[in-house]
Amino acid sequence: MKNGLEDVIAAETRLSDVDGEAGRLIIRGVSLDHLVSTATYESVAALLLDGLTERHFGPAELGDWLGEMRVRIFAHVAALQSDLLALPPVDAMRVLIARLPDGEDFEAALRLLAAPAVFLPAILRLQAGNEPVAPDASLPQAADILRMLTGRMPSAEQKAALDAYLVTISDHGLNASTFASRVIASTRAGLTSSVLAAISALKGPLHGGAPGPVLDMFDEIGVSENARGWLGRALDRGERLMGFGHRIYRVRDPRADALKKALRPLVLAGQVDRQRVELSEAVERAALAVLRERKPDRPLDVNVEFYTALLLDALGFPRESFTGVFAIGRTVGWIAHAREQALEGRLIRPRSIYVGPVPQAA
Ligand code: ACO
Repeated sequence: MKNGLEDVIAAETRLSDVDGEAGRLIIRGVSLDHLVSTATYESVAALLLDGLTERHFGPAELGDWLGEMRVRIFAHVAALQSDLLALPPVDAMRVLIARLPDGEDFEAALRLLAAPAVFLPAILRLQAGNEPVAPDASLPQAADILRMLTGRMPSAEQKAALDAYLVTISDHGLNASTFASRVIASTRAGLTSSVLAAISALKGPLHGGAPGPVLDMFDEIGVSENARGWLGRALDRGERLMGFGHRIYRVRDPRADALKKALRPLVLAGQVDRQRVELSEAVERAALAVLRERKPDRPLDVNVEFYTALLLDALGFPRESFTGVFAIGRTVGWIAHAREQALEGRLIRPRSIYVGPVPQAA
């Protein structure tokens, strides 16, 4: 058996390919570099879902339907009671999504694409003591998310940066949450169930829960000169450095560079804390050096979560919401994989090796 199913092939997919040796990501035939410089959330969603639902559509139609669906979904925000608001944002979001009907059709997919984008900003505003802001159906999803979060229209740089983030993380092979989505889809339980399972897998600190702790690490390090000592002590305690390492990549995660690039216009426009960016560069350099020394046999490089932390912080998302923002972007990948599994796959049912006691012969 392969611990952690490492290198086990568990699905055939036309959706995305992660080449861990070359550091390359392809989404439906398009390289991440190209996609991130040309696509919007709506266009990558149309690309991923193409042919996997009963409807045919392009990015513009999808954008219109998504806008209308955001407005309809907003009614569910009224269900946010104080006990739900005491939960971490991703958990409160999961509860609201669990209230949506299950289904395998386009309508179910559209509901699930709109729901996290509406629920997370509303939860964050209510947790901060503010009234939720209703969606604007005429806006693209990225701009509307930022408007619902802050109550203001985002700058062009902010909208572009969130679009770049949502495109970058839209799909990524058979990661833990996507596998969870496909397992549920293989039982034909429905897309809401698939997305709920995927969110539950995503929130762990070894998967999509890492970027909040990346910011905690920056805060604790404080200034660049402290980076090397702080990181060395963390490794002495047996801790993992958040934002580094990956099961598949043996080189730099290409999504880290896509997000670093997406951050640049915000830096140039003075919409990011420059000191934070300089500190992050020092932490990255120090971490790579310390990891090379301590783990010479395991190539460990920066992963997507490191720059996710910087980008989402710059856009005004509080750190406890980062996993929820990841879920907003990844839901389309989860849905596409769930549909592919339901259309082409079989029930997923692996076997285990029993290593427990056996009954004694009488
Ligand atoms: N810091 C320090 N050491 C690490 C790190 C790290 N970030 N990542 C791996 N290692 C070490 C392990 O301790 C282990 O060393 P050992 O053999 O001496 O015990 C060796 O590298 C191999 O680690 P594995 O656990 O086999 O690697 P795995 O493929 O299971 O883990 C993971 C991948 C979970 C991402 C890991 O690198 C990690 O914990 N990183 C930090 C958390 C993080 O950034 N998660 C986000 C990942 S990206 C995403 O999911 C969206």
